[in-house]
Amino acid sequence: MPDRRVFFTGGGGFIAAHTIPLLTERGYSVRIFDNMTRGDRDRVGEFVATGKVELVEADVRYGGAVREAIRGCTHVIHFATVSINKSIADPHESIDINMTGNHNVFAAAAAEGVQRLVFASSASVYGEPRKLPMHEDDPLNPLTPYCISKRAGEDLLGFYQRRSGLSWIALRFFNVYGPGQRIEAYYTSVINHFIQRLRAGRPPLIDGKGEQSMDFVHVTDLAKAVVRALESERDCVPINIGTGIDTSIATLAKLLIDAVGVDVEPEFNPRDVLVSRRAADITRAREILGWEPEIPVEQGMRALVESYG
Ligand SMILES: NC(=O)c1ccc[n+]([C@@H]2O[C@H](COP(=O)([O-])OP(=O)(O)OC[C@H]3O[C@@H](n4cnc5c(N)ncnc54)[C@H](O)[C@@H]3O)[C@@H](O)[C@H]2O)c1
Repeated sequence: MPDRRVFFTGGGGFIAAHTIPLLTERGYSVRIFDNMTRGDRDRVGEFVATGKVELVEADVRYGGAVREAIRGCTHVIHFATVSINKSIADPHESIDINMTGNHNVFAAAAAEGVQRLVFASSASVYGEPRKLPMHEDDPLNPLTPYCISKRAGEDLLGFYQRRSGLSWIALRFFNVYGPGQRIEAYYTSVINHFIQRLRAGRPPLIDGKGEQSMDFVHVTDLAKAVVRALESERDCVPINIGTGIDTSIATLAKLLIDAVGVDVEPEFNPRDVLVSRRAADITRAREILGWEPEIPVEQGMRALVESYG
């Protein structure tokens, strides 16, 4: 197989930790580009020890560093980002990392002539959906600097496609969950909060009426979609990556009560929520990537609870 090397920004993070083993199994070598503000050093150390992965510890805000490190790479996965909650608290930092960072990576990828760039976009580009399931051609209404940068990132990819023939796919991830996720992850933090409380014998505390829903997609399934996007024949489109199933928070609470095995009822706490319902239309993921989620939410949540030991 010809030398295939992935330049992987944010490669020290949660989703990357599940994606990198799939890449090395398929014969890619991986150059992680991560400033390690949220990276998992132990996990990255294990990857580097295989001899197939290297770490460049640097910041996507520095275009020169990106341009230098991307040299010799045939593929790009761009994940480096600051999270949605940090983007609300500090829009300046968010715009800097997410907008300038996106541009540095896309411009460098175009200049290097890489074969494919996969960008981690987000379901949050839709804002409050008008209908379910959410389709890629639905109107976009990003509400925070993080979401705005994801949408702008998709637009910028279009620019480098037109100007330099850059081949890209933007994956609009829905609510990713699974082992190794940080406790404070914005949407999915609810899973960890519920599990922590249940393990202490306390009831889950539900924001609002528990009617708000999410489309929980397991990180193992999602990582497969990332690799498919790197290799698909069709390109230059956004693609939803979810399951198509909206799970209400009240349902999630019940699932986790069963998974942990405690005899409690959820408690309710009135509060406004940013996006109330989510479910992905995944027709395009099926057609273009030949991808199908395989882990039902009940099974994924049970496995997550078991991974806590
Ligand atoms: N987890 C989800 O539910 C979800 C949903 C939608 C989209 N996404 C997107 O998927 C991607 C990966 O998410 P994740 O959950 O693995 O996130 P994560 O926070 O675990 O990983 C992000 C990585 O980026 C690195 N990073 C941050 N700022 C950087 C900078 N300035 N320069 C270089 N590296 C920097 C961090 O150190 C970290 O290792 C992100 O782009 C995220 O926006 C995630």
